[in-house]
Amino acid sequence: MNKKIIYILGIETSCDETAAALLQVSNYKFQVLRNVVSSQVKIHSKYGGIVPEVAARKHVEVIIPIIDQVIDRKKNSIDLICVTAGPGLVTSLMVGLEAAKTLSWLWQKPLIGINHLEGHIYSNWLSHEELFKQKVFPAICLVVSGGHTELYLMTGHNKYQLIGRTRDDAAGEAFDKVAKILSIGYPGGPIISKLAKTGDPEKIKLPRPMIMSNDFDFSFSGLKTAVLYEVKKYKKPLNKKLVADFCASFQKAVVDVLVAKTSKAARIYQVKTMMLSGGVSANQLLREELQKHSQKYDLKFYCPDLKYTGDNAAMIALAGYYRYLKEKDKRHLLANWQKIKPEANWELK
Ligand code: KG4
Ligand code: ZN
Repeated sequence: MNKKIIYILGIETSCDETAAALLQVSNYKFQVLRNVVSSQVKIHSKYGGIVPEVAARKHVEVIIPIIDQVIDRKKNSIDLICVTAGPGLVTSLMVGLEAAKTLSWLWQKPLIGINHLEGHIYSNWLSHEELFKQKVFPAICLVVSGGHTELYLMTGHNKYQLIGRTRDDAAGEAFDKVAKILSIGYPGGPIISKLAKTGDPEKIKLPRPMIMSNDFDFSFSGLKTAVLYEVKKYKKPLNKKLVADFCASFQKAVVDVLVAKTSKAARIYQVKTMMLSGGVSANQLLREELQKHSQKYDLKFYCPDLKYTGDNAAMIALAGYYRYLKEKDKRHLLANWQKIKPEANWELK
């Protein structure tokens, strides 16, 4: 493939969003030609969390129309297919994977399986064109989503060292569970951050779990339980002001820990850049606090545009582009449709 312009089809179905995107890349410049995300949030909000069987069935219903919408009349121009192969819900992953494998075989196009977390990290490149030219490595990358809270040291494109992770709940999961405790809806992150704006972050005294620990791990399950115990001290239903105070206090506790650990890692590993990504990276307080801390230590700070913070397939296509560049023998990618399997617990390395 010596074409100057290449077209990449990205497919993502790791959780409850069915997504496809078409990326045009030429000489490290790219354009997102199409980016379609079909969210199942309304369906799962009835249950207060994702129901895997329901998610998989919905992916099956919409995957073909969404891919159709994205490729439009460009079917013959597509050079590469990139699909999320893990981590995620295995039954959800399978839908995107089977679609991608079928198209790879049918069109005789190379296929690459992408780690969802790597996709989130590359949402920063999607959002900041200057990243393509700048010296950004080593970078410290905080990935915070509904299923993950991980700190990576990124030493080059597609090169990662996991330096810390949550030992129990992910940060996004904690937002979702605390929203359930407060009976304010699902998903909790956007609702809590909105209500927190009118709340007092000092009103409810909450712990900062593991903030002083000698590692880069996190723990959010105890914080969620602390919220539950505090809520029990008040008569139900909680009034609006008190709910806002709970939201602000909880959000501040999560952000304090994430910022302290990320900043400490940035100092110890002497990085040039700090990067935030994943669904929780939409949180305004977290963005602002990390920005402030990176300025203090003279680091560049990047976070994705809000349209790329949640799950999408453009980030998968772009991560795949860098993987593709590194492949010495690109022919074997044509046979990948026979090999790639969903990996629910795929660790990014
Ligand atoms: O990355 P993502 O879309 O899906 C996963 O891969 O998990 O992340 C979804 C998570 C949910 O837990 C949601 O509550 C959280 O991101 N989230 C937020 C905000 N927006 C979404 N958490 C905190 N503040 C927000 N503004
Ligand atoms: Zn995600």
